[in-house]
Amino acid sequence: MSSHDDIAAVRDQLLARYETLETKSDILKSAELKQLFGKIPSLPPAERGAFGQAINQLSNELKEKVAADAHAANELPAIDVTAPFDTNASKPDLLPSQHGTIHPLTQEIAKLSDIFGRMGYVVEQSREIDDQYHMFEALNFPKGHPARDDYDTFMTEEKDTDGEPFVAPAHTSTMQNRILKKYKQNLADGEAIAAIVPDRVFRNEDLDARHEHTFYQLEGIYVAKGVHAGMLIATLQKFLEEYYGKKLDVRVNPFYFPFTEPSFEFALSCPFCEGKDDSCKVCSGEGWVELLGCGMIHPNVLKAADIDPNEYTGFAFGCGIDRLVMMKHQIEDVRHFESAKLDFLRQF
Ligand code: PHE
Repeated sequence: MSSHDDIAAVRDQLLARYETLETKSDILKSAELKQLFGKIPSLPPAERGAFGQAINQLSNELKEKVAADAHAANELPAIDVTAPFDTNASKPDLLPSQHGTIHPLTQEIAKLSDIFGRMGYVVEQSREIDDQYHMFEALNFPKGHPARDDYDTFMTEEKDTDGEPFVAPAHTSTMQNRILKKYKQNLADGEAIAAIVPDRVFRNEDLDARHEHTFYQLEGIYVAKGVHAGMLIATLQKFLEEYYGKKLDVRVNPFYFPFTEPSFEFALSCPFCEGKDDSCKVCSGEGWVELLGCGMIHPNVLKAADIDPNEYTGFAFGCGIDRLVMMKHQIEDVRHFESAKLDFLRQF
């Protein structure tokens, strides 16, 4: 038998065995293949090249078979998209129109993240349980600070190692300290810290059409050398114009937050009536809508993350996402969002 007949015989054996294997890639480890390779040195030098090539060819053929089958195994089963939908099938209560839709807030958060993504911001998540340090101390609310009362939220009975309860965060600013620390290296590299946190927050509220115990905020943080309040206002204006798809006027009034100095309350010209409709439901005929709190990050907040406030400055803002979306879609009651009412949800 010539050496090439050996290869042909082994090929037949391996192909037959291949069909029976559970783990198809085992074929590549078969003893026969190894033996063939092992034979090469014993052949007359003139035959070695052709023989080696023939084994390689067999080995490649097997590899391709294994790869093709692995690919096929990962593919979804074929679906006949032209088959008629049988409305009397086993689940008549699941007609296509009754399948779920993406929650309007989730849809809008994706849009907000996209707008800020294009401005170079990274997107971070918040938490549903946090500690007092991130809720207050790191944000320059020392113990006993009266402004803590503005953030009345839910607490656990369980205490942390300082004997303090954990909290359901009342704002996304709880993430400021973590984000400043996480991206501090950006500053050393001559770049900015730029992040948003669109996430869920909680407050112990009396519920009505404008107040919900669970809602969403969009926190924004930007820190670099030479950042000033003009940049904050320009960023917010651009963002809102992009979101509402039109030119808007903005109004900035002084305000107070412990973690920003100076602090502002930021309003925009009503995107619906533009101040022209005295009975406008969105702005109550005022022409302005108060939308968010913002300001220049307080030096103590930067220091809590080991950032030198003499070298770097930054701005932060916290915007109610539910509010933004209610205004965009003229939704009259914030409670719809958490209500799981399908007639409401299916409109989006
Ligand atoms: N966290 C503030 C609030 O919920 C809003 C805010 C965020 C203000 C960032 C300034 C800077 O009321």
